[in-house]
Amino acid sequence: MNPTHMNLSIAPAFKKRRQQLIKKMGSGIAIIPTASEKIRNRDASYPFRADSYFHYLTGFGEPESVLVLIAGKKPQQILFCRDKDAEREIWDGFRHGPEGAKKAFGFDATLSITTLDEQLPQLIADQPALYFSMGQDAAWDARITAALNQVRALSRAGKRPPADIRDVHTPLDQMRLIKDGHEIALMKRAAKISAGAHQRAMQFAAPGKYEYEVEAELLHEFRRHGSQYPAYTSIVAAGANACVLHYVDNDRQIGNNDLILIDAGCELDGYASDITRTFPANGKFSGPQRDIYQLVLDSQAAAISATRAGSGFLDPHNAALKVLAQGMLDFKLLRGSLDSVLETESYRQFYMHRTSHWLGLDVHDAGEYKDGKHWTKLQPGMVLTIEPGCYVRPAKGVPKAFWNIGVRIEDDALVTAKGCEIITAAAPKTVADIEAVMQSTRSKD
Ligand code: GLY
Ligand code: MN
Ligand code: MN
Repeated sequence: MNPTHMNLSIAPAFKKRRQQLIKKMGSGIAIIPTASEKIRNRDASYPFRADSYFHYLTGFGEPESVLVLIAGKKPQQILFCRDKDAEREIWDGFRHGPEGAKKAFGFDATLSITTLDEQLPQLIADQPALYFSMGQDAAWDARITAALNQVRALSRAGKRPPADIRDVHTPLDQMRLIKDGHEIALMKRAAKISAGAHQRAMQFAAPGKYEYEVEAELLHEFRRHGSQYPAYTSIVAAGANACVLHYVDNDRQIGNNDLILIDAGCELDGYASDITRTFPANGKFSGPQRDIYQLVLDSQAAAISATRAGSGFLDPHNAALKVLAQGMLDFKLLRGSLDSVLETESYRQFYMHRTSHWLGLDVHDAGEYKDGKHWTKLQPGMVLTIEPGCYVRPAKGVPKAFWNIGVRIEDDALVTAKGCEIITAAAPKTVADIEAVMQSTRSKD
């Protein structure tokens, strides 16, 4: 992501994706801007992070950049970017400038971003279609509308605006759903770093420590392996907090009998990893904690078995649900038959989210889940999470022994021809492995 540190030998991987998009377009012009810089407060900005679609096609990490692709008989790949600026580079660091970017990233042409508004009407005039993502950014919508209106004003000079305006994200979403070799390699590295961070957190966590201290261990491990950011805000939830699905306060002191649920993953060169592990603060699962934990683990194993090329997106979820629902009956969390629990969805009291989502440049990645009636069929190269859980909030009729136990176990699965590869498998997961890892540090104290 960092423009000064991108490994330039991978520029051809990005060029190939641009060529693929041009082929999918057939004709017309695509305009894909990167993200805008955002102020956090007063004159402090959020760290800049390129737009995922823009990054996918360029690997170019500087703000104020726009990719223009022209399809048809004379395809062209054009980048608009910031000029070199000796003064600003003293303050903010290196800029490629149009000339440098052309060479390093393999564009056909590069132009100063300061010329974009002047160039846009000429670029879009007489193109049969304009591929742009309307409605994502009001300022960009206005810019494109202004360019279209300038072309319309030239109608008597024989210029025509594109007759078709299409969402450029539609073909890109299809492409992003199947990861190429460069993406898979990065995702495996990100997964490995995050798995190491979870192990480190297990070894560090103990009753009396604060959730944020555990979070600091995760962040330390991410960063020291070159991850630029966490892929999303880390959840470190001890005790009852584990039953709050998006808990991010991370400010409570950990109790002796707490389970700790950690949902955290790093982002590496734009790619997310997403892992959840749940473990006992004192290193040993209590009976009820182990019951729920093993149930969730069994349900995850069922979901993993259902994750293979040719399955529907929802098959892993349905496989997990069956196991979870039966366990909820066995532990008297619910009453009735397996069929009635599944039919009425009464399991939702304890398991209220889906088991999977696509993973890639975004933690909840691009790509369709359903094509009209049918759930997307899994294909080799797709990456999805498998993350069943069980969250027992205190309630009438719920056995007290299970109150406030919240468990989620989440791994990242790469679909292969025969099944799937769990790329996050290095994070300890069985009861025995977790207890052994925790014991190994405790015996050193
Ligand atoms: N960490 C976000 C999720 O699991 O979906
Ligand atoms: Mn997830
Ligand atoms: Mn997660």
